[in-house]
Amino acid sequence: MSLLQMNNLSKTYDSKKILENLYFCVNQHDVVWLSAPSGTGKTTLLRIAGLLEKPDAGSVVIAGEQARTQKQADMIRARYIGMAFQNSTFIGHMSVRDNLEIACIRKDDVMIDELLVLFGLDGIKKSKVRDISGGEAQRLLLCRALVNRPSVLLIDEPTSALDDANARVVFAQLEKIQRVYGCAMVIASHDARLADIATRRVVLDNGVVEEK
Ligand SMILES: Nc1ncnc2c1ncn2[C@@H]1O[C@H](COP(=O)(O)OP(=O)(O)OP(=O)(O)O)[C@@H](O)[C@H]1O
Ligand SMILES: [Mg+2]
Repeated sequence: MSLLQMNNLSKTYDSKKILENLYFCVNQHDVVWLSAPSGTGKTTLLRIAGLLEKPDAGSVVIAGEQARTQKQADMIRARYIGMAFQNSTFIGHMSVRDNLEIACIRKDDVMIDELLVLFGLDGIKKSKVRDISGGEAQRLLLCRALVNRPSVLLIDEPTSALDDANARVVFAQLEKIQRVYGCAMVIASHDARLADIATRRVVLDNGVVEEK
């Protein structure tokens, strides 16, 4: 069974077709690099996969489950999906660790502490988020996406705001996530260095996903 299945999906914004009869499938252990020019619909695809947005037509099936209501969508997302999107916010006056704790659906100190170490954030876990660097914030974003032990991680442009050194650190973390947790990942990015960790490369073209 696929972890994520998008069937015959269409999405139009202001009469502009973004996705059209799209099929996309993600299986366990896949690390999918999703690339395409700006404005083609990568973020739209990830938002629909994460059940944050509804398609105009077609279905999204996650671990065999399909949401019929908003409540079901919220439950499926909470159980299976982790999301690390650009422009996500933290609570600046709270500590790094507390920001992770409030993201936990069920209290999971073991996972939080493990992630803080894994992402090299253990030393700053008591720092207020407003005081941490951009690179640290990007790693915290990935950490937060993992606290509920998702089966699928959806990541939008993980390195676009980072310098070269920090981008390399993030790629190393992503590789580590894959190794330690085995969760599937879909990563929308222009960064060609993803070729080193991806197991599949897909391109969004004319509203559909093409395997490369
Ligand atoms: N809520 C919305 N309302 C209207 N148009 C939208 C909305 N969201 C996205 N769009 C449009 O849909 C198209 C696809 O947007 P999307 O953000 O998915 O592209 P992208 O591939 O992620 O681009 P980038 O690489 O720049 O992040 C764009 O033309 C965008 O302006
Ligand atoms: Mg985008």
